[in-house]
Amino acid sequence: MAKERIDKLIASQGKYSRSQVKDLVRKGMVRVNGERIRASDHKADPDEDQIQISSQRLQFKKHLYIMLNKPKGVVSATEDRRMKTVLDLLPEALRRRNLFPAGRLDRDTEGFVLITDDGEFAHRILSPKNHIPKTYEAEIDGPVDDELIRRFHQGVSLGGDTLCRPAELRILRDAEHPYVQITICEGMYHQIKRMFEAFGRRVLALKRVRMGALALDDALKPGECRELTPNEVGLICMKRL
Ligand code: URA
Repeated sequence: MAKERIDKLIASQGKYSRSQVKDLVRKGMVRVNGERIRASDHKADPDEDQIQISSQRLQFKKHLYIMLNKPKGVVSATEDRRMKTVLDLLPEALRRRNLFPAGRLDRDTEGFVLITDDGEFAHRILSPKNHIPKTYEAEIDGPVDDELIRRFHQGVSLGGDTLCRPAELRILRDAEHPYVQITICEGMYHQIKRMFEAFGRRVLALKRVRMGALALDDALKPGECRELTPNEVGLICMKRL
């Protein structure tokens, strides 16, 4: 890594905000290679320099991976002139330059959004070639039967040349408005809504509950987020289909 200002560098790790780091520097609690530093614009390279706060060595993470439980009414974008974005929901300490949502959920869809600054990883999990499954739960306005399950498994045609890859559809609760689970390996525009529309059904509610083998953390209320452990990041790349 190239040398960067120490306040920016430490804040990029998510634990302290930039102003908190400035405060730590002012109080003489930050050391670079054993030397107490006095200016927040002091430059350091985490690959070469040893950085400590109150004698504790910082282990620098190259990238950040955040699980967000997106509520309805928020857009999966980095900025928007009118609407709240998924990045607006992150606490100050996790707001780091170049974060973006890896894949989009519709404004009215809830659930698991991965936010990262690792473009290569995002590409890997989103590329349909890699078959990383994304699992959703949905409420449907009409009947779901074995025939529909079979058709989803065969691959739904969305008209023209657009043919979806095989999807797994399961009924979780049969009712007038059945509650289903659906797993797809692509992320076409409004894909699940369009797949049901192809059979004259409407999706009344949609929530993403899993990416790869990593489930949305039940403890996260809509609008809440947390950093993922390296083990959890690895689970996203695992195929379950
Ligand atoms: N499919 C949809 O139709 N909408 C989403 O937000 C995600 C998948």
